[in-house]
Amino acid sequence: MVALTVNGKHFDVDVDPDMPLAWAIRDKIGLTGTKVSCGAGICGACTVHVEGEAVRSCSFPASAAEGKNITTIEGLSPDGSHPVQKAWIAEDVVQCGYCQSGFIMAAADFLKKNPNPSDTDINNGLTNICRCGTYVRVRKAILRAAQSQKGASL
Ligand code: FES
Ligand code: FES
Repeated sequence: MVALTVNGKHFDVDVDPDMPLAWAIRDKIGLTGTKVSCGAGICGACTVHVEGEAVRSCSFPASAAEGKNITTIEGLSPDGSHPVQKAWIAEDVVQCGYCQSGFIMAAADFLKKNPNPSDTDINNGLTNICRCGTYVRVRKAILRAAQSQKGASL
């Protein structure tokens, strides 16, 4: 049994402590906004926040998240109003969508740490993979979110 706090709610989940957090979130808690693609920590589709830090939940044991605050795409904002989410809509970033929740979670953490990023910072700092090739729009959206956040905290 692993005790997890996801988006402010407590869950006792009956899983092996070594089960990847992504599976506990999706299969046991039922929050399927977090996607799994490579399952090997490479693509970032499974990115969630643990204590506010982006982690690749396919490669993060559920037990390592015990006692910590986990945020998934469903909890990033109550109504899709996080600056990154708004910028994503404004720039019409999404294509098939599969990688996007992980990209948004990674971008939200990236912008907290880099509130005024350059193109190069974004290229180097965000290593998520999008098979649809939305990278140009992702970069525009991150710059837009950074602009909208000047003087506010993400
Ligand atoms: S599914 Fe986790 S990094 Fe690819
Ligand atoms: S939008 Fe299709 S994989 Fe990224």
